[in-house]
Amino acid sequence: MATINTNYQKLQAGYLFPEIGKRVRNFAAANPAARIIRLGIGDVVLPLPAPIIDAMKAGVDEMARKETFQGYGPEQGHEFLREAIAGHFRGQGAEVAADEVFVSDGSKCDTANIQEIFAVDNIIAVTDPVYPVYVDTNVMAGRTGPAENGRYGKLVYLPTTAENGFEPALPSGHVDLIYLCSPNNPTGAVMSRASLQRWVDYAKREGAIILFDAAYEAFIREPGLVHSIFEIPGARNVAIEFRSFSKTAGFTGTRCAFTVIPKELCARDGAGVPVPLHSLWNRRHTTKFNGVSYPVQRAAAAVFSPEGSKAVQANIDYYMENARIIREGLAKAGYRVHGGVNGPYIWLRVPEGLTSWQFFDRLLGEANVVGTPGSGFGTCGEGYFRLSAFGFRENVE
Ligand code: MLT
Repeated sequence: MATINTNYQKLQAGYLFPEIGKRVRNFAAANPAARIIRLGIGDVVLPLPAPIIDAMKAGVDEMARKETFQGYGPEQGHEFLREAIAGHFRGQGAEVAADEVFVSDGSKCDTANIQEIFAVDNIIAVTDPVYPVYVDTNVMAGRTGPAENGRYGKLVYLPTTAENGFEPALPSGHVDLIYLCSPNNPTGAVMSRASLQRWVDYAKREGAIILFDAAYEAFIREPGLVHSIFEIPGARNVAIEFRSFSKTAGFTGTRCAFTVIPKELCARDGAGVPVPLHSLWNRRHTTKFNGVSYPVQRAAAAVFSPEGSKAVQANIDYYMENARIIREGLAKAGYRVHGGVNGPYIWLRVPEGLTSWQFFDRLLGEANVVGTPGSGFGTCGEGYFRLSAFGFRENVE
């Protein structure tokens, strides 16, 4: 009989968001009259803006004509999109070349898959709380021991809490791969420039690689904050960056994202010889992925046009006004709240005496509001709760 990858048996529970979905479906079935407000999974609600839809339609029209029809595109993405992305980075003060951009169908997939190009004995550091994809994919790949008290053996956890201002401290020893997410999912906090510089310097010293998830950078409101790790001197030698159109431009159902791997970025092979990660990822990407659909890439490129970026910004403003309403409303109600200023998530302390899941059940049962229990993101998330700003204004109010 065939045998399974037993690493899957180490996984602690179902993936967080399907688990929440199941509880909400059960509640809705038992309470058919309840009008449920969903601020759990960070999923956009506003339709794609007109300039983006127009570009997508134009792409569809091109597919309908013999002269402009497109078959397989380049796996890494069409030149027009990769150039537009590189130009956007330059505008943010980050040096990125178009051929360092790999267009994909999502940052969830990219942050999940990137670990494949690294050896199984790499030591992995994650923040706690953390986006569960980084952890679960390393569990599946066999880089961890079994779970005990909510934490996997061999993983290095970096507590990121109100007590340390949501700035993870550097590991006390050596690690090889570090997942950082800023603005952070779930806490909504943004890492400071000084702290990112410390991480880049650590990575240089230790020969480590930073896997920088910037899926929420477009939600940064305050000037002077870091949008791209490549704004930090030295980062091109130590970091990979992930970005997404999902939240930025409303593409959760449309699917488009990208990963940037600088050409000079290397990790060592078994003989200690430095190997460019760009070429390894290119090998993986071209073997396992056949590119994002042409009309979707046309739509994504329109995000960087003057009309497109204005329309996308208006939607971001809408969500961030939601965030303000949630944050200030909860603070007025006596809750301790974090995030929601430069990121679309509000991270609140649950009332004394309740666990995160107990608060989830109470909020759903009494107010018919869905959020995400902090403990679903790690042991340091216990006692916290995440609300997403991606909702309709009337519901948020
Ligand atoms: C979240 O709610 O954390 C995100 O929507 C999950 C994701 O982007 O995969």
